[in-house]
Amino acid sequence: MRPQLFYVIIAVMLEDYKLEKLVTPAIAWYEEHKRDLPWRKDKNPYHIWVSEIMLQQTRVEAVKGYYERFLHRLPTIKALAECPEDELLKLWEGLGYYNRVRNMQKAAKIIMEEYEGSMPKDYDLILSLPGIGAYTAGAISSIAYDIPSPAVDGNVLRILCRVTEDDSDIKKEAVKKKVTNLLFPIMPEDVSGTFNQALMEIGATVCVPNGEPLCKKCPWEKMCGAYHHKTIDQYPKKSKPLQRKIEEKTILLIMDGNRILIEKRPNKGLLAGLYQFPNMEGYESRETVVSFARKKGLDPLYVEELPDAKHIFSHIEWKMKGYLIKVSDLSLYEVEKNEAPVLIEKEKIQSEYAIPAAFEKYASYVNLSLGKKGFM
Ligand code: ADE
Repeated sequence: MRPQLFYVIIAVMLEDYKLEKLVTPAIAWYEEHKRDLPWRKDKNPYHIWVSEIMLQQTRVEAVKGYYERFLHRLPTIKALAECPEDELLKLWEGLGYYNRVRNMQKAAKIIMEEYEGSMPKDYDLILSLPGIGAYTAGAISSIAYDIPSPAVDGNVLRILCRVTEDDSDIKKEAVKKKVTNLLFPIMPEDVSGTFNQALMEIGATVCVPNGEPLCKKCPWEKMCGAYHHKTIDQYPKKSKPLQRKIEEKTILLIMDGNRILIEKRPNKGLLAGLYQFPNMEGYESRETVVSFARKKGLDPLYVEELPDAKHIFSHIEWKMKGYLIKVSDLSLYEVEKNEAPVLIEKEKIQSEYAIPAAFEKYASYVNLSLGKKGFM
């Protein structure tokens, strides 16, 4: 009985607040304080789409370079639809969540086939495209077309929970839906894109997720419940931290001269279709990796144990140890069934093969830079 009663009392808080009073101060503040960002130079829906997907993955500062490079290489939805997959993944290298760019390409193909190459001017049609959820559909349709549609992400949820002193768990999809539904009726006609960006900007530059919020600079200072009651640090309510599955791995950097061995990951599952250094499940000893190399027909001349590394994905954490194995001639590598290793000059990896950031530390031991750093 009790938990239900608790939920009802909480749910009323955001709903009770007159959200419409937030609109005008937010828009006025944004017009004066917005940052000059590359994707704010025009209202091209493709540009907004690319930026929003990238911004879901990393910080504004890091996105800038990726955004410029992506649009330089793929300036139109047509170019995105036609880009070879390896090249697409290379453009995304370092951003993570590679299925997002694959979905963008699927959506681009649909836009070419069904909408004559232009992003449809309709919220529901945009929402129906692969990889576009309520947040992205709201952002594209409001910023590009001023269709009054909310774009609610974690930042928007945080600032609204603070203003209204709502202690809902913002990680829950139901809470995001609730807030989206509450915002629909108050979206300003004609300037809904500005309002959505104002919410994003307040979340990014004033009511920040980590560290002290800059309440004195906030357009909502006088109407913020949490500021008034000095309870900012209680919102949003902290939910239980996610328990990640730990996987141990041994990474092998197998080289001769300037060539290194990489292989393509399977087409399904984590980091599907990307390239990686060969690796073994679990922590393996020097003897085991030497005999692995020998079984493959190679003759290890020099083996060096490398420092440990870790990489955190959303639900999995890799704990890695690694070895640098120098061999006389990588061409001796004996290919088994279904295996497609690539013996490659390091410079070619840099320009053509997408290796995920999980391997970044080991790549650096052989002077390979991944991601944007390695591409330009
Ligand atoms: N975060 C998400 N979308 C954004 C945008 N359009 N501008 C700045 N920060 C953002």
